[in-house]
Amino acid sequence: MKIAILVSGRGSNMQAILDACADPSFPAEVAVVISNIAGAPALDRAVEAGVAAVTIAHKDFSDRVSFDQRVTEEIKAAGCELVVLAGFMRLLSEEFCETWRDRLINIHPSLLPSFKGLDVHARMIAAGVRFGGCTVHYVRHEMDTGPIIVQAAVPVHPGDDADALAQRILEQEHVIYPLAVKWIAEGRVRISGETVKVSGAHAPENALINFQD
Ligand code: GRF
Repeated sequence: MKIAILVSGRGSNMQAILDACADPSFPAEVAVVISNIAGAPALDRAVEAGVAAVTIAHKDFSDRVSFDQRVTEEIKAAGCELVVLAGFMRLLSEEFCETWRDRLINIHPSLLPSFKGLDVHARMIAAGVRFGGCTVHYVRHEMDTGPIIVQAAVPVHPGDDADALAQRILEQEHVIYPLAVKWIAEGRVRISGETVKVSGAHAPENALINFQD
């Protein structure tokens, strides 16, 4: 399955997927990486991996929909069937979400539906939650919503600051995002209503990762 990855920044989740794709038995390949920010570090990482890296700067477009249409053109030209948001810091239009409905996924560094939006790690610490985590989900138009594919949980330790918690969660992001891509490419993921079933899949046993079988 050919996939497109949309990025804006450092691209560590993109890298985790590129690394997974380097295994010939992995059922997906990254056909194009698209950044809305020129010079994003993720672009260099993509080039390093030999993947087409394209900048489509949102600043060059007069409105959100025309930017999104240009992104769709690029994804289609690369022959992609799945669009993977990996630290893509731009809201997508309803039209884009509909064009790619059930073929567009995101990772968010919380156990959704808790802690949508930005600054989640600091907000989790301020709220005194005992567990944080991350979620891979299909994207619906409303921010950080959509059918959940897989989540991983991590403890919040006494004395954690936002950076320490972010690092612990990020390690799990790098585990579950490639897993979700693999399961989708293997045809294991079915959306029913607004929830997901994953059939016949396995997750690493040394982590608190959960999905519905
Ligand atoms: C990650 O924490 C991801 O969950 C969020 O944005 C961050 C992107 O980090 N959506 P990276 O660019 O993948 O390193």
